[in-house]
Amino acid sequence: MNRRNFLKLMAVMGIYASTGIPKITYAEEYKISKKRILGKGDYSLEVSALGFGVMGMTYNRGPLPNRKDMINLLHKAYDYGITLFDTAEIYGPHTNEILAGEALSKFKNKIHITTKFGHDIVNGKYNYGKLNSRPEQIRKVAEESLKRLKIDRIDIFYQHRVDPKVPIEDVAGTVKDLIKEGKVRCFGLCEAGIETIRKAHKEQPVTALQSEYHIMWREPETIFPVLEELGIGFVPYSPLNRGYLAGKMDKNTKFDPKNDNRGTLLRFTQEALEKNKKFITLLEKYGKNKNATPAQMALAWLLAQKPYIVPIPGTTKLNHLQENINAVNISFTKLELAQFNNELSKMEVFGERYNKEQQKQVEK
Ligand SMILES: NC(=O)c1ccc[n+]([C@@H]2O[C@H](COP(=O)([O-])OP(=O)(O)OC[C@H]3O[C@@H](n4cnc5c(N)ncnc54)[C@H](OP(=O)(O)O)[C@@H]3O)[C@@H](O)[C@H]2O)c1
Repeated sequence: MNRRNFLKLMAVMGIYASTGIPKITYAEEYKISKKRILGKGDYSLEVSALGFGVMGMTYNRGPLPNRKDMINLLHKAYDYGITLFDTAEIYGPHTNEILAGEALSKFKNKIHITTKFGHDIVNGKYNYGKLNSRPEQIRKVAEESLKRLKIDRIDIFYQHRVDPKVPIEDVAGTVKDLIKEGKVRCFGLCEAGIETIRKAHKEQPVTALQSEYHIMWREPETIFPVLEELGIGFVPYSPLNRGYLAGKMDKNTKFDPKNDNRGTLLRFTQEALEKNKKFITLLEKYGKNKNATPAQMALAWLLAQKPYIVPIPGTTKLNHLQENINAVNISFTKLELAQFNNELSKMEVFGERYNKEQQKQVEK
């Protein structure tokens, strides 16, 4: 083994103490230098081409991992050049913002931290299935989120789900006031439809729409022309289809009944996990020549769709973070992308993405 490979191996194994050999940090091996812009003008943010979804570190993705390890992992993500970190009041509730605050507040002027309001949370308990985007609630969440996140300003404050009981103009107007007061920098929407986006944007320019998007859920593409017209960025959430597109799940995969919502979703039944494997096969086929994994191909595909797209995959593992980061360096030729999309357009997904209750909360 030559010296360079030896040093690389040491870095990967984390062995650099007391050997007298110069320390190699992971940051030298994995670095995102590519940036993208979400939004337009005064309400734009320049961010790393790939963000980080913090949710799964405390919520909905299985048994809780070691907290210290998660803090170290978030620090690594920062070292690697990630500058967009996403959380929400509902994740926990509150535990995820607290973790993000503990790990990330020290980088507050160098990164962008985004969070969300809009679910009805009373005294730290989620009033299941109920939304609340009343202006006084938005203000309350902003104050409390700032404290939990230990920051002075929320970079994007997203409405998590459109609340049919509160006119979107009132929601946008409230966020506009918070922006004037310096507590929020930019406004975002999640899973909103075209009409809502247009109305909201008139009151307060929207910086980003955050909705589910990946090769197995392409509905947001119908909104892209409007995003382009208005200069709004797009942040695909669950960009690996909650981990499925990494290609490691099969009918024997079990989901923690206490803290993993995948067990309740129709796309994660034993049957769906098997029947949708053709999507992994497609990613593998196109990844072969590029020496890329299915997870990397799934993320690279998202990045190839539009220049204003910034996916936010989540992970609790260093090797997955490193793998995902390298997706930024994988490109498709125009022809490859057209061929991939042509094959994809002929494939049908087995199983709905949400149950009926959840589906009611997303706009077309
Ligand atoms: N706005 C909304 O309504 C909404 C809804 C859901 C999520 N989100 C946001 O989107 C973010 C990401 O969503 P998500 O966590 O649902 O889905 P995701 O990013 O598609 O998938 C995360 C899952 O994939 C696994 N994973 C990640 N990289 C991997 C790799 N390279 N190989 C194998 N497995 C890998 C992770 O497990 P390991 O820990 O084992 O890596 C984790 O269980 C969240 O953190 C949150 O910020 C927003």
